[in-house]
Amino acid sequence: MGPWLCRVALFAACSPLAVASQAHAGDTNNDADRRAATTEAAMTNEERVTLLNGILAMPLGDTKIPEGAPLGAGYIPGIERLGVPALTETDASLGVSYIGGLRGDGATALPSGMAMGSTWSPELMQKGGAQIAGEAHAKGFNVLLAGGINLVRDPRGGRAFEYLGEDPLHSGLLGGAAVAGIQSRSVISTIKHFVLNPTEIGRQFHNGIIDEGALRMSDLLAFEIAIEKGQPGSVMCAYNKVNGAQACGNDRMLNGILKGDWGYKGWVMSDWGSVRATDFALTGLDQQSGSQLDGAVFFGQPLLDAANRDKRYQRRIADMSRRILRSIYAVGVDRNPPRKAPIDTAAGAAVAQEIAEKGIVLLQNRSNILPLAATAKRILVVGGYADSGVLSGAGSSQTQGEGGPAVSLPTMKDGVFSALMAQNYHRSSPLDAIRARAPQAEVVFRDGRYPAEAALAAKNADLVIVFGTQWMTEGLDVPDLSLPQGQDAVIAAVGKANPNTVVVLETGGPVAMPWKDDVGAIVEAWYPGARGGEAIAAVLFGDVNPSGRLPVTFPASVAQLPRPALPGAETVEPSFAGHGKPGQTLDIDYDVEGADVGYRWFARKDEKPLYPFGYGLSYTSFERSGLAVSGGASPTASFTIRNSGARGGADVGQVYLIETPKGKARRLAAFARVELKPGEARTLDVPIDPRLLAEWGPKGWTIAPGTYRFALGASAEELIEETAVTLAGKTWGYRK
Ligand code: BGC
Repeated sequence: MGPWLCRVALFAACSPLAVASQAHAGDTNNDADRRAATTEAAMTNEERVTLLNGILAMPLGDTKIPEGAPLGAGYIPGIERLGVPALTETDASLGVSYIGGLRGDGATALPSGMAMGSTWSPELMQKGGAQIAGEAHAKGFNVLLAGGINLVRDPRGGRAFEYLGEDPLHSGLLGGAAVAGIQSRSVISTIKHFVLNPTEIGRQFHNGIIDEGALRMSDLLAFEIAIEKGQPGSVMCAYNKVNGAQACGNDRMLNGILKGDWGYKGWVMSDWGSVRATDFALTGLDQQSGSQLDGAVFFGQPLLDAANRDKRYQRRIADMSRRILRSIYAVGVDRNPPRKAPIDTAAGAAVAQEIAEKGIVLLQNRSNILPLAATAKRILVVGGYADSGVLSGAGSSQTQGEGGPAVSLPTMKDGVFSALMAQNYHRSSPLDAIRARAPQAEVVFRDGRYPAEAALAAKNADLVIVFGTQWMTEGLDVPDLSLPQGQDAVIAAVGKANPNTVVVLETGGPVAMPWKDDVGAIVEAWYPGARGGEAIAAVLFGDVNPSGRLPVTFPASVAQLPRPALPGAETVEPSFAGHGKPGQTLDIDYDVEGADVGYRWFARKDEKPLYPFGYGLSYTSFERSGLAVSGGASPTASFTIRNSGARGGADVGQVYLIETPKGKARRLAAFARVELKPGEARTLDVPIDPRLLAEWGPKGWTIAPGTYRFALGASAEELIEETAVTLAGKTWGYRK
């Protein structure tokens, strides 16, 4: 049965693939439980503890890299006599990481998380995950530290580029699909960073304060959905504190919610340098990662000693090692160990390009300036190092293709971490790709150093393509939403000089665009990865019809955000590690918005953003209609989308909950991306997760009896058609 034959029931029974893999996962998991119990029972305490701590597998200080361990993020020795493989770990969601050549020799760089999020395509996420996991496997790794799905609560957060968006359903489904893709290649994936890690400042000590119900309905819900869909072998806890307790030693989050309520059976690994004490073992942490970065190897000898004298620790080390073994067996790491082999760079490039093309968002297209006509004689390209490559984000997720970056600019001297914070460009030049696509034109380049020079050149061109870049990195937030180093002034000058100006943005997340009214078209290309230049040219010239939709709200200004001033900006000295001074604390109040992250906050405050969540234009047009929501225990939304234009294209149907018996609401309740030929129409049936209709309270999830209104949207703001359904109330919790 093909996915389109039963009307289109998404993410569920219609896909034969999904059914088959679920059945397989079920068998494997039962077997994994049994095998894990048997192996663990045969282990000595020394062997158990061997599995519970690992090193950062990089030549750092006097670190000795064990023979056979690939340079990467982590290494945990195996237990040969029991056939337990060593765990070889590398970052991250965008590919096998590079870090100035310290961790690798080139791999496929997928576009950023924001670009992936803009595809709204779980299928593509799965494909991307399988691609990078195949490469990790061929480079000797069996654990990929992927699955970054923290919700973007603040567009200035330095890792916004790594994450998928601001909505729990969207991030949960896409993140879960990426994990499933990774694990389909016998490579364990994490999901991270658990939980509430939206900004980088003081990342080792900032304390996110939030009502638990609000957290359950936002950030935790994203993790809950992703874990259900992807069954990650491991969850990586975050650096920060949550409601006063360090995330990696947070009894409530780890034992109470993750392992208790959700029944998570894999293992919790720490983030690198986030363990403070051996008793984190009692509060839910199962493995200490990158132990050289912590004050001590807490999960080494001290844990062994504790187990030998205290039954609670003895029980825990048995449970901790069983959890690790279970994931090894469930994912098949032992049956299909990594084998060094050349990677298929062409296949990787094709996947990276497909994600970039489907993730590029067309934000503005005055007078249909795009797609570009083949008649332009003189095209001016300005700025963004477009003559060399496309920008990438920095930190542990930094990935580079063979030969390293096209351009690498040092940014901050921060000891061993400096290499992690280089501003790197992938070898995929938009200028070359534009030249290849416009052989009839003279294509000239200006670096955009001076607004006056760029404006003068713009006057003499038929068409201007100006690049605007915003570099982001793990470890540092951006102070505001401007394009740094005077780029806003260059774009404004060029736009004023020539109305045929197209702005191509390569940004980590939302930016302010004070020049919006001066330019013709705006294309958000994010960090577009290994083949970003080609993807950009394909969209500009219309070989590809843009179909990306924003996974985050672009605010008109920071004044609209829940916290207009970035907490800690005045008091915390920026540093990659983010430890701060001894005893330093920084409370961040997330109860301001609670569960109303991003577009939900804008709806609550009745604020108009620059561009709303879910927004994106196309070179064709769509008619969206026929919204109906069925009641009953498993509500389903159905709607029809018709391509009413002359080009093939893809749309994302979005159904929002806009009213509950309690009052006004705005929550993405269901979505589906669909490719349509000109004139083609499809009716889609998409199940609505009941948790999106519910509130979290002392008894668990509650759907209040009464009327629920839904709207079919072209974005979170442009609501086209409404419908209402009456639901019987229900309350449900978690089986203990
Ligand atoms: C990051 C993690 C990463 C780890 C290992 C940390 O700094 O927060 O996301 O997986 O390093 O490289």
